[in-house]
Amino acid sequence: MYLQILLTLLSLPNPTTPQSFSLIGDSNPTSSSINFWFTTTPTPTTTPSQSYTALQSFKSSITSDPTNLLSSWVGPNLCSYNGIFCSSTQTPQTILSIDLNRAHLKGHLHPSFSLLHPSLSLLHLNSNSFSGDIPTSFSSLTSLTELDLSNNNLSGPFPTHLLSLPKLLYLDLRFNSFSGPLPFELFQTQIDAIFLNNNHFEGSLPISLWSSSASVINLANNHLSGPIPMTFAASPVIKELLFLNNNLTGCVPEGIGLLSDIEVLDLSFNSLTGRLPSMVSCLSGIEVLNVGHNRLSGVLPDIVCELKRLENLTVAYNFFSGFSGECGRLGFRNVWFDFEGNCMEGKDLQRPMVECVGVGEGGFSCFRIPSARNVMCGGGGGGPPSFYGEVPSSSSPSMASRP
Ligand SMILES: *[C@@H]1O[C@H](CO)[C@@H](O)[C@H](O)[C@H]1NC(C)=O
Ligand SMILES: *[C@@H]1O[C@H](CO)[C@@H](O)[C@H](O)[C@H]1NC(C)=O
Ligand SMILES: *[C@@H]1O[C@H](CO)[C@@H](O)[C@H](O)[C@H]1NC(C)=O
Repeated sequence: MYLQILLTLLSLPNPTTPQSFSLIGDSNPTSSSINFWFTTTPTPTTTPSQSYTALQSFKSSITSDPTNLLSSWVGPNLCSYNGIFCSSTQTPQTILSIDLNRAHLKGHLHPSFSLLHPSLSLLHLNSNSFSGDIPTSFSSLTSLTELDLSNNNLSGPFPTHLLSLPKLLYLDLRFNSFSGPLPFELFQTQIDAIFLNNNHFEGSLPISLWSSSASVINLANNHLSGPIPMTFAASPVIKELLFLNNNLTGCVPEGIGLLSDIEVLDLSFNSLTGRLPSMVSCLSGIEVLNVGHNRLSGVLPDIVCELKRLENLTVAYNFFSGFSGECGRLGFRNVWFDFEGNCMEGKDLQRPMVECVGVGEGGFSCFRIPSARNVMCGGGGGGPPSFYGEVPSSSSPSMASRP
């Protein structure tokens, strides 16, 4: 089961990343290419000699090229180099895109890439063996819209200098060894897709998360800890939010219900406690909801199971004590419903009762709206609710009985 989500949601990027090549014309050499090589063109376009320097510096810093990909990187016709894509309309031809995905190159990212700044729009270097950090000079790649450095061996703190790139929409750093905290500014940019999963990020989730204009945020498989920040006004553009397999604690905040466009929400494999908030019922577009492998408790409410677009509801390996009518009918609606490993008396494949004693009512307390049916969903006006938050549990009976 777990494998499935890994494959569908965390899978390695495609060899060509989305939206990629629509912009790119052909890269055929033209007869004028030798001529422009000797012409100096004023800015703002990169001069051919700058581009040449950029590519050759990069090439010379590569320590291993097992497929011999860079053997074509000779001579003045840069647009004929493997992996280099040029504009067919501009003269002299300018480099719009570099795609060296899956080339198994080893080395460092050379700072000279920044010489391509006026034109370079896509830089795709996934599935190589680049190590070290991302040079600060990358912050001058002001035309960059897609940066895919996933599945390398890059390390160091989060490269905050990338956050000033004014046109960046796709930032893919997953499957590397970045570490340290996520910066507050990460969620204050125009970036639409943020893939940081499978690194070693730690620390808490910045509260700016909820003002993000990204539609996809994947922070899975890191070491993030602390609570999911509360919110009174969450960004409605988020469609996929993946926090699975971190060390998040505390309650699921009510404000999660303000993510009115969300389709995939995966909070599994953390240490979240308390009940599912009533405002989950506001997630009218949600298709996949996975809160499995946490410490959630209470009765799984009908308002969750009633969600109309639900295709996959996983609550497995928590401490839920039961579910009622609507949840029992999910099977007839062809919704995948996994509730294994809870505390549901009379159901199959539940925890031994001894693990369930003392968990549930009173064991954890999250401050909630009293009425489950009259929740205020996002977009409906009426202003923000007064206070949604977590109230520390004052009496916590026999927590020690939990695993
Ligand atoms: C539902 O989600 C779970 C957990 O992510 C996954 O293991 C399972 O394969 C999914 N089921 C379907 C039918 O997609
Ligand atoms: C990744 O980098 C580390 C040092 O930062 C090195 O020890 C390790 O061998 C590298 N792994 C690969 C697959 O290149
Ligand atoms: C969570 O924290 C514990 C203890 O601090 C640690 O052993 C574990 O590796 C962490 N898990 C993740 C996924 O970071």
